Amino acid sequence: MFANLKNFDSVIHDLILAEKERQMSGLELIPSENLVSPAVMEALASYPVNKYAEGYPGHRYYGGNEVIDQIEQLAIDRAKELFGAEHVNVQPNSGSPANMAMYQALLKVGDKAMGLKLTEGGHLTHGHKVNFSGKLYNFVQYGVEKETELLDYDKIRKQVLEEKPKLLLSGYTAYPRSIDFKEFRNICDEAGCFCVADISHIGGLCASGLHENPVPYFDVVTTTTHKTLRGPRSAIIMCKEEFANKIDKAVFPGLQGGPHEHIIAAKAVAFKEALESDFKKYSEQVVKNAKVLASELMNFGYRLVTNGTDNHLILVDVRKSGISGSEAESVLEKAGIYCNKNTIPYETGSPWDPSGIRIGTPVLTTRGMKENEMKIVASFINSALNSKNDETKLSKIKNDVKEFCKDYIFYK
Ligand SMILES: Cc1ncc(COP(=O)(O)O)c(C=O)c1O
Repeated sequence: MFANLKNFDSVIHDLILAEKERQMSGLELIPSENLVSPAVMEALASYPVNKYAEGYPGHRYYGGNEVIDQIEQLAIDRAKELFGAEHVNVQPNSGSPANMAMYQALLKVGDKAMGLKLTEGGHLTHGHKVNFSGKLYNFVQYGVEKETELLDYDKIRKQVLEEKPKLLLSGYTAYPRSIDFKEFRNICDEAGCFCVADISHIGGLCASGLHENPVPYFDVVTTTTHKTLRGPRSAIIMCKEEFANKIDKAVFPGLQGGPHEHIIAAKAVAFKEALESDFKKYSEQVVKNAKVLASELMNFGYRLVTNGTDNHLILVDVRKSGISGSEAESVLEKAGIYCNKNTIPYETGSPWDPSGIRIGTPVLTTRGMKENEMKIVASFINSALNSKNDETKLSKIKNDVKEFCKDYIFYK
């Protein structure tokens, strides 16, 4: 692979291979990442990249889309089957534009909406003031409980009935527990507002039945395709038929121009993979691995937000262990272990220097690691964090990590 690139641009060629080497010789624990299959990778670097196809299958603003229409229709049909969706738009380029299109379809600028606070697990696009969502719409934020760090559905119901938003958003970026989507549906019915979820993180778990899937009974659901769903970097929007026209118009011509059809082809491949029985086994293992990693870290004395996990991600409150989230991220990186600093509920630091780190198991599970390996990974994390001022020890751990990873090379 990449032989022609080597002749044409040896600098980028070498950097691409260096990144592959980094991915294979370290422990990638960032829960929003995954490793795509060679088939998805192949589709990403393929001929549809050359095509302009503004519009939708059968209704394009450019000629020559006979084949492209079949590719896009397959992606739509497979996503419908995977999630039990009435309507799917496969054109959003990523999670943030998918959310932008969803708001544009359902709200007018200035309308009131509700989403979870960023510091308590929500995403920037769920109404944060520095993001378009918080600037264009009147977002009121709900939170988690201080004691339990969990959502309290009665409190959310009360707040929704008082605030009367036009849209209630659930689905998060850093919430380690299951979400009661049925309860969100009930609240929206009571309040008479749009019931929307962003399942970007748990999309793969929803598709394989490891988490309640809101798609069949929510108004609109967005998801990225590159996290637990293990597809290309991209997103889709799913909705009930009654919102189909508004969603499609919001994506094109409302927000985007020509769809990236090579990525749509790669999404179709990923959806086919996710429909196979192996994907359910993979998702089961993702959750099992996260539970073992969580309990091993607690055995080492780390405090986890909500004391554990129901899904693929874990939030570790590292400040309790005498280190900040950003320090922990950089110490772990020196040991070849990759995570991201993250705020924790009722944060006392800042988003740039928060109290936590966020880790997860989608990548390591794709590499074939199971419960026993999670115990080893937990001890690597613990050793590295305990060696924060010792560069020699950290580089020794990095070597040990590299040796350990040799049995789990996904891209040969
Ligand atoms: C819940 C959620 N929504 C949206 C996004 C944004 O996706 P993207 O980075 O593809 O724009 C993320 C990204 O992490 C996310 O976690």
